[in-house]
Amino acid sequence: MKTITAILAVLIAVVFVVGAAMAVPGGKTVEFAGGDQGKVTFDGKTHADKGNKCNDCHPKIFQMKKGSVKITKADHVPGKFCGTCHDGTKAFAQDEANCTKCHKK
Ligand code: HEC
Ligand code: HEC
Ligand code: HEC
Repeated sequence: MKTITAILAVLIAVVFVVGAAMAVPGGKTVEFAGGDQGKVTFDGKTHADKGNKCNDCHPKIFQMKKGSVKITKADHVPGKFCGTCHDGTKAFAQDEANCTKCHKK
C-alpha cells in the first residue's frame, strides 16, 4: 500500500512538471484575434529566452488559460496586461512605432 502511494505521488509530480514545461514556453504560442489591427501572437519561447519566469506573468497578470483575458485598446497603458512590461523601459512600448511588433495583418 505504501509503495503504491509513493508511486502515485511520483507519477502525479511527473505529470505536473511535464504539463507545466509544455505550457506557454517550450515553443508554445497564444494567439489573440486582435480585431482590425491584426492578430497578435504571444510567443512563450521568446519571452522565456528574455528571462521572464512563469510567475512574472502568472497568476497576477494573466491566468494560465487561453482566452481568459480581454484586452482592449484602452488597456494599452503601462502597468496593464502586456503593458506591465511593454512600457518602454522593461520592453518596447505600446505606441505608434510598435503596433506592428505585436499586431500582424
Ligand atoms: C511574459 C508573460 C508570460 C510568461 C513569462 C508565461 N506566460 Fe503563460 N501565458 C501568458 C499569456 C499572455 C497567456 C494567455 C492568457 C489568455 O489568453 O488569457 C498564457 C497562457 C498560459 C497557459 C494556457 C495556455 C492555453 O493554451 O490555454 C498556460 C498553461 C501557461 N500560460 C503556462 C505558463 C508556464 C508554465 C510558464 C512558465 C514556464 C508561463 N506560462 C510563462 C503569458 C506568460
Ligand atoms: C513580464 C514582462 C512581459 C510581459 C507581461 C509581456 N512581455 Fe512581451 N516581451 C518582454 C520582453 C522583456 C521582451 C524583449 C524585449 C524587447 O523586445 O523590448 C518582449 C518581447 C516581445 C515581442 C517581440 C519578440 C517576439 O516574441 O516576437 C512581442 C511580439 C511581445 N513581447 C508581445 C507581448 C504580448 C502580446 C504581451 C501580452 C499578451 C506581452 N508581450 C507581455 C516582456 C514581457
Ligand atoms: C505588446 C504587444 C502590443 C502592442 C505593441 C500593441 N498591441 Fe494592440 N493588442 C495587443 C493584444 C494582446 C490585444 C488583444 C487582442 C485580442 O484579444 O483579440 C490587443 C488589442 C488591440 C485592440 C482591440 C482589438 C479588438 O478586437 O477589440 C486594438 C484596437 C489595438 N490593440 C490597437 C493597437 C494599436 C493602435 C497599437 C499601436 C499604437 C497597438 N495595439 C500596440 C497587443 C499589443
